[in-house]
Amino acid sequence: MAAMSDVPPIRIRRARAAEAPALAGLMDAPAAAGLILPRTPAELAASIAAFLVAEADGRAVGCVALRDYGAGLCEVRSLVVCPECMGRGLGSRLVAAAVSRARRQHAHSVFALTYHPRLFERLGFQTVAKEQFPQKVWADCRKCRKRHHCDEIAVFLDLTAPARRRPARRTTRQSPGPAKP
Ligand SMILES: CC(C)(COP(=O)(O)OP(=O)(O)OC[C@H]1O[C@@H](n2cnc3c(N)ncnc32)[C@H](O)[C@@H]1OP(=O)(O)O)[C@@H](O)C(=O)NCCC(=O)NCCS
Repeated sequence: MAAMSDVPPIRIRRARAAEAPALAGLMDAPAAAGLILPRTPAELAASIAAFLVAEADGRAVGCVALRDYGAGLCEVRSLVVCPECMGRGLGSRLVAAAVSRARRQHAHSVFALTYHPRLFERLGFQTVAKEQFPQKVWADCRKCRKRHHCDEIAVFLDLTAPARRRPARRTTRQSPGPAKP
């Protein structure tokens, strides 16, 4: 196993139009496993401006998208970290970067539907009832094979409230470091 000093630095930045196929490749396996909604290459290309990419050694190793529903409501979606980079805080960095982007866009709240509520809760999100979100949020769920028995957990971050970030766990692993979208 590689030592931490061998791990290349990972930077988070906006996705480029030419990266739609690479992002489709990252998302294929988790989409097939039902962990995220599938996106066609055409959908990805059309929404590439919403994506942030984690890049290591010139390669996309993670991504996240921020969808703006208007009226100050944004969704963190399409969160993926490649298997060899998991468990080192990159998923958390990507969510934090998406939240920073939402703040810059003057959003008042961010939500996500997830099987990983703890990751979001560490960043200040709270678990909430799915029913509180407006109808337009559910349009994409038509494509989901779990649409009639959705078991994802809704998490919500109020950007107008003072920060309530949970203390980080003590760990010997690498610090996630600041997000640089
Ligand atoms: C979900 C996913 C994005 C998480 O990515 P990740 O990079 O492993 O996320 P993190 O490292 O930030 O957090 C994962 C775990 O590592 C731990 N961790 C996070 N940062 C850490 C750090 N700096 N040091 C030590 N451990 C850390 C966390 O405690 C977390 O464990 P827990 O949630 O069980 O408590 C990734 O597993 C993935 O791509 N899964 C498939 C796609 C998917 O499910 N997407 C849906 C997301 S809503």
